[in-house]
Amino acid sequence: MRALGIDIGGTNIRAGVVTPDGTLSSLTRQPGSRDPEAVLTQVVALVERLGPVDAIGVGIPGRVDARTGAVMSGGYVDLSRLDFAARLAAATGLPVAVENDATMALIAEARLGAARGCENVVLLTLGTGIGGAVQDGGQIVRGRASAGQLGHIALDPAGPPCPCGRRGCFETLASGSALRARLDEAGLPSGIGFAEARNRATAGDKAIAAVIEAWVEALRAGIDSLIASFDPDCVVLGGGLGAEAAEVLAGTRGRSGWFDTSIRPAMFGDDAGVIGAGLAALSRLKPRRRAVLVNGVPASGKTRLADLCARLTGWPVLGLDTVKDPFLAAIGTIDRPFNRRLGVASLGAMADLVARWPDGATVILDAWFGFQPLDVIRVHLDKAGIDQLIEVWAHAAPETIGARYAARTASRPVGHPGLEYVPELVDLARRARPTGLAPVLEIDTEAEPDLVALSRFLSGGWAR
Ligand code: BGC
Repeated sequence: MRALGIDIGGTNIRAGVVTPDGTLSSLTRQPGSRDPEAVLTQVVALVERLGPVDAIGVGIPGRVDARTGAVMSGGYVDLSRLDFAARLAAATGLPVAVENDATMALIAEARLGAARGCENVVLLTLGTGIGGAVQDGGQIVRGRASAGQLGHIALDPAGPPCPCGRRGCFETLASGSALRARLDEAGLPSGIGFAEARNRATAGDKAIAAVIEAWVEALRAGIDSLIASFDPDCVVLGGGLGAEAAEVLAGTRGRSGWFDTSIRPAMFGDDAGVIGAGLAALSRLKPRRRAVLVNGVPASGKTRLADLCARLTGWPVLGLDTVKDPFLAAIGTIDRPFNRRLGVASLGAMADLVARWPDGATVILDAWFGFQPLDVIRVHLDKAGIDQLIEVWAHAAPETIGARYAARTASRPVGHPGLEYVPELVDLARRARPTGLAPVLEIDTEAEPDLVALSRFLSGGWAR
């Protein structure tokens, strides 16, 4: 399945094709418009140009009613006068998901990016305005309809006017366009970017230094208020100026320990909104098949975890070794390359089996997925018709994994490498990581598993 993710920004419209693992292709950027009808026409043309796709997701710069998809207000571009989602669906014949633009960026960053693994997140996009979105306990905070308008917390009631009707909102003081306007006033020639402005400030340009200092102060003040309000695991900064803001803030501290929270740049940078829009659109389509990848190196404890997942959910387990071991037993002792070929064939058999299951099925796949390049794994998942994934990552101290493997060599089915493999396995365990294809729950198999956390992940991890 593929969706078109679209991010309607103040200055540009960005669009790209997104697959369920967050891969973005055909990214296109074009100047936007302040005329809502013109924006709709542009979006329809983008769908025609970049399609075919199965669904469309659009990040809107304004308040969006999360339950109905109605656009309630806008800033620089105001789409509230159009029945945007319905008109786009009618023009393209495709399902359309709309959300606020920063909410889309949060979906991408929380699922697969800088906030992956964090339950509680504040995200800001710093661009033409300041977009905001909050995740609390793994759920996006919605309020009655459209919570998260973090660009509109007031920092200075006597400050510059804001499109929301007030004065001195966060975005009037700290957005990309606010910073640009102040730098212009300080004499920075247009076309010169932020990096050069910082160089000039360091080289002694006092006017520019004062503008940057005021910007950092406003950012810090706004972010500290958000940390005090939401107590997040991390604050993610995205949009055109997110990376720069995270960098300048790295040199600052909150006023006290109250405000000590990790502030980090968005992993997908300014593309987060497009990726999140695509993911949001895909998650509304009924998945064909879902899989829980229970992944980990040999002897990491993944098979016990896979069985535990099956007990907690009733979903069937398909293990790579379950497919491979009878062949090993029939063939007898084999060398490592042949063992690997059997592994690849077993992966193919697993995909072919699942491909024949009814739509709507969920399967637990128990394997060390790192034994093949990610692209090969993707091809097999695709062949199996699996379009929604979560991953449980089994790990333990590398020495424990080595000791477990050594202890089991006598009882392992014929064909598996013997004791000589242990040093290599210990080294592999040191380097191995989850696939990165899906939301992940990491489980230390040396401790008793937290059944509540595991059950919660197996039921709710999909939506993130
Ligand atoms: C709007 C927000 C939007 C942000 C970023 C603000 O002016 O009020 O809804 O998320 O700009 O586009």
